Amino acid sequence: MTDRLMLDDEDVLSRLSELRRLIDYHNQRYYALDDPQISDAQYDNLFRQLVDLEKEHPELITADSPTQRVGFAPVEKFLAFHHDTPLLSLENAMNIEEAVEFDRRVRKILSTQAQIDYVAELKMDGLAIELVYENGSLVGAGTRGDGFTGEDVSTNVRTIRAAPWRLLSNPGANPLPAKLAVRGEVFIEKRDFEKLNEQRSSRGEAPFANPRNAAAGSLRQIDPAVTASRPLRVFFYGMGTFEGQEVFTTHYAILEQFKLWGLPVNPQSRLCKGIGEAISFFEQLVERREYLPYEIDGVVIKVNDLSAQRLLGEKSRSPRWAIALKFSPYQVQTHVEDIRFNVGRTGIITPVAILNPVLVGGVTVKRATLHNEDEIARKDIRIGDAVLVHRAGDVIPEVAEVITSKRTGKEIAFRMVSLCPACGATVVRLAEEAFHRCVNRNCPAQIKGAIVHFASRDAMDITGLGDKTVSRFIDQNIIRNVSDLYRLRMDNLENLAGFGKKSAQNLLESIEASKHVVLSRFLYSLGISHVGTFVADLLANSFGSLQNIRSASIEELQKTRGIGEKVATAIAAYFSNPENTHLVDELTGELGLNIQNPQSAQPLASGFWSGKTVVFTGSLSAMSRQEAARAVSAKGARVTESVSAKTDLVVAGVAPGSKLDKARTLGVKVLDEDQFVTLVTADS
Ligand code: IVH
Repeated sequence: MTDRLMLDDEDVLSRLSELRRLIDYHNQRYYALDDPQISDAQYDNLFRQLVDLEKEHPELITADSPTQRVGFAPVEKFLAFHHDTPLLSLENAMNIEEAVEFDRRVRKILSTQAQIDYVAELKMDGLAIELVYENGSLVGAGTRGDGFTGEDVSTNVRTIRAAPWRLLSNPGANPLPAKLAVRGEVFIEKRDFEKLNEQRSSRGEAPFANPRNAAAGSLRQIDPAVTASRPLRVFFYGMGTFEGQEVFTTHYAILEQFKLWGLPVNPQSRLCKGIGEAISFFEQLVERREYLPYEIDGVVIKVNDLSAQRLLGEKSRSPRWAIALKFSPYQVQTHVEDIRFNVGRTGIITPVAILNPVLVGGVTVKRATLHNEDEIARKDIRIGDAVLVHRAGDVIPEVAEVITSKRTGKEIAFRMVSLCPACGATVVRLAEEAFHRCVNRNCPAQIKGAIVHFASRDAMDITGLGDKTVSRFIDQNIIRNVSDLYRLRMDNLENLAGFGKKSAQNLLESIEASKHVVLSRFLYSLGISHVGTFVADLLANSFGSLQNIRSASIEELQKTRGIGEKVATAIAAYFSNPENTHLVDELTGELGLNIQNPQSAQPLASGFWSGKTVVFTGSLSAMSRQEAARAVSAKGARVTESVSAKTDLVVAGVAPGSKLDKARTLGVKVLDEDQFVTLVTADS
């Protein structure tokens, strides 16, 4: 007999209930309080211990063990689920004026001039659900249906980890209500949605159209095992039937109580004084929306005071005390008025749709890229077509699809230009390329693009040299190429209409300041094909000086990890062209650019850390933050101070600060110290 089996029954029982209690507790920390105390790995470890112990003692598995969330038999069909209190829907406000009008109505009915306290919540884009608890135990769950009767999805809801089977009762708190119905929204996070679709395509299954469809499809599964395999989440936002000691006076207090019971509430809910604060919350979200980990389609504004809610009452389908202030959607219908051509700095000619201007996700869109000839043919886009325009993140707007049912027959088919619209030179399409190029290296559009790129923020960072200014300088023959920038003097600029003395001075100062530049920036600013900021960093770090890069052969360039044949060939080709070497000589010679080489040139690994932007928060026990930062920098990562959508990883030590919250809000991956140390030491 081994020691392990010596655990007597009582020990096993108490370990089992300890593990179950711990798992329930950490579920609450994670889902309801958004404040986990242990890492995902530690959670998984607890769960595994429970699974293993239950495997050894199957007779001790209880129906409410967290391991049982996946173990239900399929249902024949969904039964009806009656809502004791009807599940109403919301009236929409399509713009801010309508929200102001809502507030006016509220104050009129309440006969008050005073500001109303509102709770502003994110309007989650998923599907509505009601969960019923009796004396703290989950007894059933149903979809919204027509508001009175939905479908009974109890077994499926039981597979959702964020939905507690038992409400937590806190010492000293009120007794758990005899009956409680809570309402919320089931959803899937954007990243999980993408992973799910990837998985589906790899199995030859049709992908879901959007996270909402994926969530709805996952919840309405006959086989709960399928639901259990889907990354469903839930946030609760309201209460239906309540039988118990009525203690709430505000909606916000209800949300706070939900968290104590272990019911997840969106942490972004906000108490607002007056409609003005609710509207500014909405306006901030217009900007932040695309960086949230899940999709939302607006902000729900609710009167906070429950007695005021009762006074306001309900219309037939929606309450008078709440309104959904909706965003304008990311995908909007408009017309293609024309198709024009943009010539980029490398001569690539991109067809661009000129659109009837529309608001897409809060931004006015007038043009959309059509990418290239093949793409237009594939989507069959014609001038005059009604189209759906899509915009998301920092991505340039594009035409998602043509609404062919709206064709009148008057649409004009697309034809690629055969001459460059900027200089009239021949346009070619190389066999291996999808796009067309202007062959004239002196094409003014290319020169303009090259100068704008040279001056851009990640390149030489010359402020005041945007698209418009560069166009003017070229059109008026003030500059003809990049090197002319360093020959500009006050008297060139003074007589330019609309160019004030101050802005001229600022521009000249900024150009002067750009003369001190680190090697990687300078390389990037040259606009060599395939040399972005990342490759420029690699080159600077592994070759150490401009001279070394200039004289390197294709083979030598390729020895740098992360630089392949295509990139190496482009770099060698650039420096073997006399026009380019002349420009570089001029800049670094008579025009006085002072290029700083990196301190210690060393080849960068192309491993896990390379190219990642990393933020540290909290203190680490194995090393100081400086040491940690140095370790990952040496592996090619960039360490920055603040978390943004561009951050790849946040490393959270003990007592992390608000950076961790920000990371969670933005859906940035978080590593704890253990995971961090493993990754730094593993990836050498
Ligand atoms: S309150 C009586 N709050 O939006 C008020 N609804 O028509 C009931 N939704 O499908 C709704 N997030 O599921 C409320 N924070 C939120 C919400 C929310 C999403 C959904 C709801 C329903 C629709 C309202």
